[in-house]
Amino acid sequence: MCGIVGYIGSKQACDILVERLEALSYRGYDSAGVGVFNGGEIEIVKTAGKIARLKEILSGSKPQGTMGIGHTRWATHGEPNDINAHPHPDCTGDIIVVQNGIIENYRLLKAELIEKGHRFKSQTDTEVLSHLVEEYYNGDLKEAVKRALKRLEGNFAVVFMHKDEEHLVAARLNAPLVVGLAHNENFIASDVPALLKSTNKFYILHNGDIVSVGRESVEVDTFFDRSKVDFKKRNISIIDWSVEDATKGDYEYFMLKEIHEQSKAIENTIEGAITRGGRVHLDMAIPEERLRQVRAIHLVACGTAYHACLYGRYILEETLSIPISADIASEFRYRDPLLTERDLVVFVSQSGETADTLACLDLAREKGALTIAVTNVMGSSITRRADTVIYTRAGPEIAVASTKAFTSQQVVFLLLAGYLHDVRRVKKAKENMREVAKALKNLPEMMGEVLKSEGDCKLLAEEIAEKEDCYYLGRNIDEPLAREGALKLKEISYIHAEAFPAGELKHGTIALIDEGTPVVAIMTQDAVLEKTVSNIQEVIARRATVYIITRDDVKGLEDFARMVIKVPATHRYITPILSAPPLQLIAYYAALKRGYDVDMPRNLAKSVTVE
Ligand code: M6R
Repeated sequence: MCGIVGYIGSKQACDILVERLEALSYRGYDSAGVGVFNGGEIEIVKTAGKIARLKEILSGSKPQGTMGIGHTRWATHGEPNDINAHPHPDCTGDIIVVQNGIIENYRLLKAELIEKGHRFKSQTDTEVLSHLVEEYYNGDLKEAVKRALKRLEGNFAVVFMHKDEEHLVAARLNAPLVVGLAHNENFIASDVPALLKSTNKFYILHNGDIVSVGRESVEVDTFFDRSKVDFKKRNISIIDWSVEDATKGDYEYFMLKEIHEQSKAIENTIEGAITRGGRVHLDMAIPEERLRQVRAIHLVACGTAYHACLYGRYILEETLSIPISADIASEFRYRDPLLTERDLVVFVSQSGETADTLACLDLAREKGALTIAVTNVMGSSITRRADTVIYTRAGPEIAVASTKAFTSQQVVFLLLAGYLHDVRRVKKAKENMREVAKALKNLPEMMGEVLKSEGDCKLLAEEIAEKEDCYYLGRNIDEPLAREGALKLKEISYIHAEAFPAGELKHGTIALIDEGTPVVAIMTQDAVLEKTVSNIQEVIARRATVYIITRDDVKGLEDFARMVIKVPATHRYITPILSAPPLQLIAYYAALKRGYDVDMPRNLAKSVTVE
């Protein structure tokens, strides 16, 4: 939540900050602002609204200078107006700060600072930071920031600037922050993609890091007590994502680009993992003996990643014949789950920074469980806390609506199932996992085939776009897809959508079905196909309009469905991956038809780093 940037070099900071904020705007877009040192003082320009509004204001005149910081906000404390926009100055205007995260004890600190005579202008928690640093400032910004940070409770990434010091000071605790290194200029940002245009060399900061960023030097230190933490020298990470990966190219929206990147994302995710004979190889830092002793597996995530876990639950259960559970992270962390050293917990997070998922990971570790992180972002917080990491190699996912990360996460669950099946020497699985792995190799090509249905998905979406409610049905491994379809539609088109196991509808929800209510059914599983047909007949009898996503070898559904979208027939574990792009396209075109900004849905942000 919130995007922060900093620049120090020889170019005009304002232009660079605004450009980089645009790349970070998926993290929040309630308000935006920049603060630039103009040689005499710090000039702040900030406004409610998206970055486009900030650009409009800056097109008149912009602060001139080569050092500055910027922010794009997802409001937590204080409504999204001009005053609450960041940066926030201290009483003198000499010190400014931008922040991502929440300062939980800000009310106490604010009262104390007001008592001391500090004058506050905003309703934000952030403003206590500039005043606290003002209180401690004695000619050394870094030392003052260190003292201030020690007083904070909460999670944050912050960047400070002082008009008398030629460097920026940044720090993080449970919120992402990277430093981009270039020749005679350096950058700070909430994530790597925002800086790819300038560099591929980064310091990926860790919790407790405080960094002083000058034009030619960067010093990483800790604001924790050094005697109590194992602070090591940070290595420079070279990131192999390209600028193109982080730009829209010819697409109108990142979401559509990312839907179309799914073949590549899957190809990269499975690369090198499957042998000719269909064995799966994963680089796991957990000894095989420990994996053989595991008695239960728990899958934990939020949102779309949770839906991938629901899919994974079916696959792992059928493959390993041990108990598998899937939980929403914000619930798991508060229900004192029964975990021992013989439990394995898999945490799935595209960003690797989701606060609830990370809290669950800490909980699982405290209880001694084995932990695996499945993530898309190298160096993200989750990668440093889990026993081992499996990467989805989907490339940067910028659109708020997760697409290519989801299908890559589904693929990781198939790989994990194949791998654990061999490691645990499972005698009898429901499906032949070697056959599954071999079929998986053809998935990138089949993903390309599925995208040929884009025109039909658009037609279907344009019908749904006229409605206020929509229901999604599925059974067995298709059921998580129904949930994912409904979430996609809700979050970007604002149409009320609900998903149900098809057999559950008649236990209440069918009362809502009326003439023309759209019902989208995902039906790729033979074992439950006829049962779902019966459920479809039940809603048709209540005059619903039915749309079906099924395999291309299933015949006859056209007789009663208004439209049928077909995906290639392949192994039953893979068809629910192929069903995802049509669901994503339906949501995309419905949102487009309704005239919404697909990449920046209201009230949302890509990375949820607060509870
Ligand atoms: O980065 P994460 O995978 O941990 O994010 C989890 C959810 O916030 C995310 O999947 C969210 O539900 C997406 N906006 C859905 O499209």
